[in-house]
Amino acid sequence: MPHIRCDDIGIDTLKKRAKCAKEIIQFIATSSNRDEALLAIEYKDDRFFLLYKKVKNGALLKYDKATRPLNLTTLKESIEFCAQVLSLDIIESNIENKKAKPSPLFASDYYKKIEDFIDFKTSFKEIAIEVGFGSGRHILYQAKSNPQKLFIGLEIHTPSASQLLKQIEIQGLKNIFVVNYDARLFLEILPSNICANIYVHFPVPWDKKPHRRVISKDFLQESLRVLKKEGTLELRTDSQKYYEYALEVFSMPNRCRFEIKKNHTLPIVSKYEARWLRQEKNIYDLTLFCDENSKEKKSLYSFSFCDLGYNKNMIENLPSKPQVGDGFFFHFERLYMIDEDMFLIKCAFGDFAKPEQKYILISKDKCTYYPYEPIGSHSNMSAHNAIKEFLNGKCHSC
Ligand SMILES: C[S@@+](CC[C@H](N)C(=O)[O-])C[C@H]1O[C@@H](n2cnc3c(N)ncnc32)[C@H](O)[C@@H]1O
Repeated sequence: MPHIRCDDIGIDTLKKRAKCAKEIIQFIATSSNRDEALLAIEYKDDRFFLLYKKVKNGALLKYDKATRPLNLTTLKESIEFCAQVLSLDIIESNIENKKAKPSPLFASDYYKKIEDFIDFKTSFKEIAIEVGFGSGRHILYQAKSNPQKLFIGLEIHTPSASQLLKQIEIQGLKNIFVVNYDARLFLEILPSNICANIYVHFPVPWDKKPHRRVISKDFLQESLRVLKKEGTLELRTDSQKYYEYALEVFSMPNRCRFEIKKNHTLPIVSKYEARWLRQEKNIYDLTLFCDENSKEKKSLYSFSFCDLGYNKNMIENLPSKPQVGDGFFFHFERLYMIDEDMFLIKCAFGDFAKPEQKYILISKDKCTYYPYEPIGSHSNMSAHNAIKEFLNGKCHSC
């Protein structure tokens, strides 16, 4: 990841110089032991933090994990720009001097952010989703064979997402959207009854950490809501254990049927399937049919803190341990001061299996998530309500 190492100018000088660089740095938030500072960056229509961190031989200026812009060029340019406006003496840098080519991942019209799907509408007659498309062989084959259908590919591994976008360009396809995001959260923001198929092919079995599996009771519920009547959720796996686990999960609701196949061949063999076939493993297919339409999803979640503003007790009462509620948690991980009456809390929250990390910006008369609001999932909303109560001083444990 791009970063620079420079002479440490100290937090006070950093803050002073940042005041003259409002064109890119909005404010500076300093950790209580003053070993690091977050620079609130506004650059090329994006908002994120850069981290200034004291190290043994100077200081590092680098990305902040929780808010990192996905566009690498934006990140590189903003680090360089900041180093320049802050007059940092660079000791070492891994940012090449030549102008970086825009990453194909972000230049493409087919790359979509999760926010693009809130209130999602499309002119395509049918929609299918592939969870964890990996090298993309299956989604590319499906999209070519069904040009009238939109395929939304979800993948948490950024290089795989980038590779698929390249293939979309090379093959001139117009019916694939690529989303570099956790599929389990993504489904929660989609409207009901819009999808014809959800493919989950060769998911990671996570035998030792089952909470990380894609298939779960919640995922099944959301899939059934998003699928229209007669729609299918298709699991294909080489793991007998995962197949048996999924069978148990799929057997829970009484509103669907399923079909089981063993060693059934498909017209396209994915990269992982090819590997398992070479090892002569059995392949299991479990297809679930959605037998009825679901209710429309109710109003969008609001992540407002209403008229909550800074008061001294807030900081004093912040718990250092994670707070656990029914189906959610929140953990105030770190506190950063901006001014005497303005501060920032780094907070992890939501569902244990798919936590989000966000910052909460609190000033005299306002409290907001910064730079962006969390995804409107049920567990995020529950966590937000608990945080709000907590900051309001109404609740001291969940
Ligand atoms: C074992 S690979 C299979 C890839 C591909 N389906 C195939 O058959 O070759 C599983 C893929 O799922 C992706 N993945 C795992 N959990 C995910 C999640 N929650 N949301 C989206 N993608 C996920 C991983 O990054 C990985 O690329």
